[in-house]
Amino acid sequence: MKFLSYHVAILQAAEFYCVRLGFKPVGYQGLETGHRLVASHVVQQNDIFFVFRSPLEPEKPQDMQQQLSRHGDGVKDIAFSVEDLEGILRVAVANGACVVREPWEESDENGTVKMVTLQTYGDTVHTLIDRSRYHGNFLPGYGAPTLKDPLLDKLPDCNLLRIDHVVGNQPDLEMTTVADWYEKILGFHRFWSVDDTQLHTEFSSLRSIVVANYEETIKMPINEPAEGKRKSQIQEYVDYYGGAGVQHVAMYTPNIIDTINSLRARGQHFLEVPDSYYDNLRERLSKAKIHVNEDIDTLQKLKILVDFDEKGYLLQIFTKLMQDRPTLFLEIIERHNHQGFGAGNFKSLFEAFELDQAARGNL
Ligand SMILES: [Fe+2]
Repeated sequence: MKFLSYHVAILQAAEFYCVRLGFKPVGYQGLETGHRLVASHVVQQNDIFFVFRSPLEPEKPQDMQQQLSRHGDGVKDIAFSVEDLEGILRVAVANGACVVREPWEESDENGTVKMVTLQTYGDTVHTLIDRSRYHGNFLPGYGAPTLKDPLLDKLPDCNLLRIDHVVGNQPDLEMTTVADWYEKILGFHRFWSVDDTQLHTEFSSLRSIVVANYEETIKMPINEPAEGKRKSQIQEYVDYYGGAGVQHVAMYTPNIIDTINSLRARGQHFLEVPDSYYDNLRERLSKAKIHVNEDIDTLQKLKILVDFDEKGYLLQIFTKLMQDRPTLFLEIIERHNHQGFGAGNFKSLFEAFELDQAARGNL
């Protein structure tokens, strides 16, 4: 299980994720709960938790103010639920981890959690959370949600079950160092997949390494830009985010057609995919060994992408940017015996991305 924490400047973001993406408000911290400097809104969908945070005063807390002014809205903390916090921390520190916050405990009537926060790429951090002595839904110290939206019960269920992967973009030539960090500090391993290579279109290029924890329940592709005719979309991210950071968060659904019908009905916008992509897909699938159960016309109507190999396939779709800066977006994914991340879609997908990038004058 993983939690994600965001720093955003606005309370409305939490409501946006509820109305557009099917989350429910489950917790709140702020002045009313005795938290004088930071407001937090927690939203949940099955095993996915997002915490939206913003500072309450003009200049404090300083680190949050600096984060927001430099990076804008984005992912600050990718939190992992762990079983042996002390053991992981011992190995991490012995291997040079930077501890942002020493281990601390928080308690309420549901028990106690222990946490520690480590620095990873850019200004991003990982909070490790030992929940073995805690029986509440989220974490101690949160009051009842203040958000009560009568619309939410009327909207169709989105059925996003868990986080599938979280992608980090790095400046040029920093990917390998970051992948090594996960191996050395957190005991992750390279999760070899077809995606683990250089991917390119005519104009834009990137390299990617995927790292995973021992059980392979956490997968983190790490990208860096590569030379192309024009600016890589990874470089565009790095320029606008002001360094390394989270590019996208992918969430798993067991039925992407139902999910995307719901999300579109809720008004969520997705990346456009040209019809030529589906002509090409039909052609490639006609020669393939696997069969895609879903109706291709329906996938085309909803702009869902398909990637496959000889053993299985995945279905995926990407949202438009979640804020004004060309930085964070989201992905919805369904897997059928396929553990890749959509490398086969890179060309068609990024050609579609580049239409948007060109419209912003950044290609
Ligand atoms: Fe992805």
